[in-house]
Amino acid sequence: MPKQTIFSGIQPTGRLHLGNYLGSLRHFVELQTKHDCYFMIADYHSITEDYDPRRKRAQTLELAAEFLAAGLDPKKCTIFVQSDVPEHLELAWIFNAITPISLLERMTQYKDKAARQTKNVNAGLFDYPVLQAADILLYHATAVPVGADQDQHLELTREIVRLFNNRFGATFTEPKTLHTNVPKVMSLLAPDKKMSKSLGDAHCIHLDDEPDVVAAKISKAVTDTGGGTSLGARNLLTMSEAFSSKKTYDSFLADSAAGTLQYAKLKQTLAKDIAGYFADFRTKKKKLHTKRVEAILAAGAKRAARTATKTMAAVRKKIGIR
Ligand code: TRP
Repeated sequence: MPKQTIFSGIQPTGRLHLGNYLGSLRHFVELQTKHDCYFMIADYHSITEDYDPRRKRAQTLELAAEFLAAGLDPKKCTIFVQSDVPEHLELAWIFNAITPISLLERMTQYKDKAARQTKNVNAGLFDYPVLQAADILLYHATAVPVGADQDQHLELTREIVRLFNNRFGATFTEPKTLHTNVPKVMSLLAPDKKMSKSLGDAHCIHLDDEPDVVAAKISKAVTDTGGGTSLGARNLLTMSEAFSSKKTYDSFLADSAAGTLQYAKLKQTLAKDIAGYFADFRTKKKKLHTKRVEAILAAGAKRAARTATKTMAAVRKKIGIR
């Protein structure tokens, strides 16, 4: 892949779990070495869902610390907080003025969230994908690494590019969606559902869970019986493939095929391997001082703003405001 401008974002809503790591963060760490990358903490997106204002800033700083602990390097990429660059909101407003409501009404994530949060179906929830388009296009990103659940939002982003360019002249280019092969990690307790923090702590393994916590959670993971082909057992094997050595994984896979897989042994080994895989992450996260995280975010915001202000100056002219 030729050099791209990469943009992605994650909402600050709590500690990251294995699904977030395999789906996003692991790829960010690889992408930063070859491309021009922006990784954003989407705090303005996150206020559209029920939240505790006393905890939001701490969640933002914690997510930044997790980015850094996982290996994102501020010398190689731009890490910043959405609310530090107000141009995101400005461009979102301009996009609002060209986005048909009928397109937003089709968004399945909006419909899901509205159904979950019936007492708080706010306009921000509806407008969420327009802000996401602004995030991406402010930096003229060419590729956006996201999970499959974001496909529809990326399609809308491309539609906004076409609408804007048709109306005001060539300005933006359509970004492509970057799907890397992402093993889907399922909930430990409900392996028919994706691992998600909304299911509850016991369903997820967090990247900074201590070894005893990882072991306790995995020991409670449902496997049921059936020779290693149940959803729960398959999920443990998926995690083993990601976090155990190839030799270990291959032997469990062979056991599973032969119908001799011992769940207790798989669980013990897997718990040890996951805890070991993230040992460095835990150490780094503990060592990061808030002051240092804040300094990195301030520098990231400054760098992001340089591009964002340029884009906005051009956009204001194009739409006839200036
Ligand atoms: N909507 C994304 C999610 O929930 C987060 C996000 C916000 C994002 N802005 C973005 C992802 C821009 C990619 C690009 O996962």
